[in-house]
Amino acid sequence: MQAWIDRIAARKATVGVIGQGYVGLPLALVFGESGFPVLGFDVDPIKVAAISKGESYIKHIGPERVAAAVASGQFAATTNFDRLRECDAIVICVPTPLGPHREPDNSYIHSTAREIAKRLRPGQLIVLESTTYPGTTDEEVLPILEGTGLNCPRDFHLAFSPEREDPGRKNFTTKNIPKIVGGVTPESTRAAVALYAAALEQVVPVSSARVAESCKLLENVFRSVNIALVNELKVIFDGMGIDVWEVIRAAETKPFGFMAFYPGPGLGGHCIPLDPFYLAWKAAEHGEWARFIELAGEINTRMPRYVVEKVARALNEDGKALNGSRVLVLGLAYKANVDDDRESPSYEILDLLQKRGARIDYCDPLFPKTRKTRKRDLGMTSVPCDGASFAAYDALVVATAHDVFKKAELFRSAKLVVDTRNMVAPLFPRGDGPRVVKA
Ligand SMILES: NC(=O)c1ccc[n+]([C@@H]2O[C@H](COP(=O)([O-])OP(=O)(O)OC[C@H]3O[C@@H](n4cnc5c(N)ncnc54)[C@H](O)[C@@H]3O)[C@@H](O)[C@H]2O)c1
Repeated sequence: MQAWIDRIAARKATVGVIGQGYVGLPLALVFGESGFPVLGFDVDPIKVAAISKGESYIKHIGPERVAAAVASGQFAATTNFDRLRECDAIVICVPTPLGPHREPDNSYIHSTAREIAKRLRPGQLIVLESTTYPGTTDEEVLPILEGTGLNCPRDFHLAFSPEREDPGRKNFTTKNIPKIVGGVTPESTRAAVALYAAALEQVVPVSSARVAESCKLLENVFRSVNIALVNELKVIFDGMGIDVWEVIRAAETKPFGFMAFYPGPGLGGHCIPLDPFYLAWKAAEHGEWARFIELAGEINTRMPRYVVEKVARALNEDGKALNGSRVLVLGLAYKANVDDDRESPSYEILDLLQKRGARIDYCDPLFPKTRKTRKRDLGMTSVPCDGASFAAYDALVVATAHDVFKKAELFRSAKLVVDTRNMVAPLFPRGDGPRVVKA
């Protein structure tokens, strides 16, 4: 163990990162920038080719960082999993989606563990970073790795360390977000702490992989439940003629015991709409009901329907039917200023509007064209982001508060704005703007 830790301290250890997506690519860069030789593994040859050319396919990760890491010789990407043998530490950052019935899909973790097992050698540390339910690391990954005849901790080490990335955030990045680490044995925790401490500013060891897995879920359930709460209060206050945004602003002045969460068109992103259901599923195995998680999911997934209902009602007040009206949805990204549209409620809003006969378009300068995904292929193109284009629609629906939208001239001639983000009214402090309905 000491010899392994010395290799880490000397930056002689090679780090492999499997999955070069939103989590794996920045992590690989941080290890490379800390002086480690890094291999980035992915099954997608397009991503591997892009990295090899020094390009970034993720907007908030500058291509100059990828180019510098590749040019320095510290970082290379590959689809050749035989090169896992070269790695002293292997970090797994593969997807953990939900299946069609909201059940966890750990197949990517299992297949990756099997790929590692084929090449596992004594002296390696394996760390799982993909978000998952408690028990995955020691009940599912460990048996696959020990099926080789090698033993943890005698021959190799295994730990879980959750990713806490907030895409687009400037003040907290992979480098300075405290890193939770829990091994399946104390020796594994020690090895994983040594690895991350060599590249990141703060490492927080916990007593087991299960605690580390649970910590990530607590963080995401906390957000999901609080967002659901504020979404429910939005609907209740709206029925009473009270503006929830003003209520939150007032509550925020309390210097203790309150943390502001904001309503919106529904949950998006890779984490918060999905991860809580991993825990709910595992809880059932132990005879427990995750009632807060289910309720929050129910409220949050209903939000797109609420927004569309608001659009229909507001058009009706203008003497128009939703059927046949031209409606422009602003923002495909699930949150402001990122080019990430995974699980974005904008798609559900577009679907629902179209089903009710609206003539739909979208505007999002970060998505000039809609992307083809597992679920849909809309084949749409963004309309230009200018006031003349916006004025042509019967209703604008603000789904994402991108900075590029925060200009009064875009909305001055709009006929009707249905705003899920409270973005437009503040652009007209004198009240001389278009008709805005908050949703
Ligand atoms: N995106 C985030 O902000 C975020 C934050 C915290 C945690 N997470 C978690 O991190 C994990 C990865 O998420 P992501 O956002 O980076 O996903 P992603 O889809 O951006 O990236 C996953 C990458 O893995 C690759 N891949 C798929 N199967 C593979 C395999 N068998 N072998 C090698 N590579 C494979 C894909 O091609 C892709 O490049 C998930 O468990 C997610 O829940 C994500």
